[in-house]
Amino acid sequence: MDVKRLASFCQKVGIAYKTAEEYGGLAGFYDWGVRGAQIKKNVKDVWWSYFVERNELIGGMDGSIITHPKVWEASGHVGEFHDPIVKCTKCGNVYRADHLVEDVKGVNAEGLSLEELAKILKDVKCPSCGGELGDVSYFNLMFSTKVGPYEGTVSYLRPETAQLIFVDFPEHYIHMRKRLPFGIAQMGKAYRNEISPRGFLFRLREFEQMEIEFFFDPENDESPFYREIKHTKVRAKPWKGEEDVYMLDDIIDDYKGREWMIYWIYHSLKFFELVGVDMDRVRIRQQSPEERAHYSMDTWDVEFYFDDMGWKEIEGIAHRSDYDLSRHRTFSKSDKYVVRMGGRSFVPWVVEPSWGVERTILAILYSSYREDEERVWLDLKPWIAPVQVAVFPLLSRDNLPEEARRIYYTLRALFRTEYDEGGSIGKRYRRYDEIGTPYAVTVDYQTLEDKTVTVRERNTMKQERVGIDELLPYLGERMRWT
Ligand code: GAP
Repeated sequence: MDVKRLASFCQKVGIAYKTAEEYGGLAGFYDWGVRGAQIKKNVKDVWWSYFVERNELIGGMDGSIITHPKVWEASGHVGEFHDPIVKCTKCGNVYRADHLVEDVKGVNAEGLSLEELAKILKDVKCPSCGGELGDVSYFNLMFSTKVGPYEGTVSYLRPETAQLIFVDFPEHYIHMRKRLPFGIAQMGKAYRNEISPRGFLFRLREFEQMEIEFFFDPENDESPFYREIKHTKVRAKPWKGEEDVYMLDDIIDDYKGREWMIYWIYHSLKFFELVGVDMDRVRIRQQSPEERAHYSMDTWDVEFYFDDMGWKEIEGIAHRSDYDLSRHRTFSKSDKYVVRMGGRSFVPWVVEPSWGVERTILAILYSSYREDEERVWLDLKPWIAPVQVAVFPLLSRDNLPEEARRIYYTLRALFRTEYDEGGSIGKRYRRYDEIGTPYAVTVDYQTLEDKTVTVRERNTMKQERVGIDELLPYLGERMRWT
């Protein structure tokens, strides 16, 4: 399927659409609609529940979006967080230089230096007007802003949520009881002034991340879960090897923290499966040294295969060693980034799984979109569906609406439930299939006689008669994800 088609479907059913369309939209910015806002909340809730509430090693935080500018100097983002650009000397169009090389020459240009890109682009003309291209230079992706009414007080909108976790490490260490390992999770907005936002929800200028920084002692880096999961088989592409099915234990390099790297890859894949990503379209791919971010000593991306866009990163799992904490120690001149444990003083090391919320949802929607001659529907997991139960009276008369409303009031206390009596019953089924509603409860004339209703399952369209008294346990059992 084509992502463009999914985008127009999402607009039609109220999931997501370009912001401020009446003014022509703003590239890289999307709004979430009546259905999409709920889907987004559900994905984030499952993530928080899976990784924070049900994991005793992880605590949560919620940091500020505009942060002390020194944070971004220390993190390396002021100096290093850039992409190469090239500008047309005639029409002024600006292109991301590595993407232009990929589009025009069909070669992977990720990680090439400015000189290498300039050399390849020497004989390339502007794709838009045919004009000469100028020099290749770097463009920093951070959005800057002024803080307060004072001249020159500049800060940045965070380009990742991670850095707030690092800079606040001295606080976390105390509140996580001064023990290692532990992780801190955060989800929220991040901003990047992307040169060419594209792919619907894929490359945005404003998006959300769900990130965990997992701190460990490099001299004591064993994971108690390692033996249980090390033989897990995954579809993987190591940077030096071919894509194949490998055991996790065989492909992760031998460095301090490898057992935690395995742990986070394992749970990342479990999470994608839990929220309904088609695992036949998922692989992990190791970045080459040239591709890696400035802070990373090893990175594995979780990638999803889109028919039209190919393999694309939906999550990055990076080994950040002590890079960030050591930089904050140096820049802040604070020794609180050093821990004292077992007679040693050291800066903890970090493994970081980092999910994009929008990319996760894009993969979920792409995986769950179904159509046949009769209908279009989303095969969403019940915990992700914006509406879990739809309640219909068969007809809008003869006491059927009153009975249906009574059932609706009971169910809505436990499930995301909607009541609908507009249009034919067939139309109502289609309307709720389209947004992935897994169950529809219909009140008919038999209900008035024997206190049973029909429950229709979205995928099979099969109907079952269930007693009103049994509805809560019947549905409850089908809505739980553990
Ligand atoms: N803290 C590490 C970090 O930010 P990243 O690989 O730059 O690493 C992590 O980003 C994840 O955030 C990506 O895997 C992707 O899902 C999401 N992401 C990054 N840039 C994005 C963008 N411009 N639009 C949407 N999602 C983005």
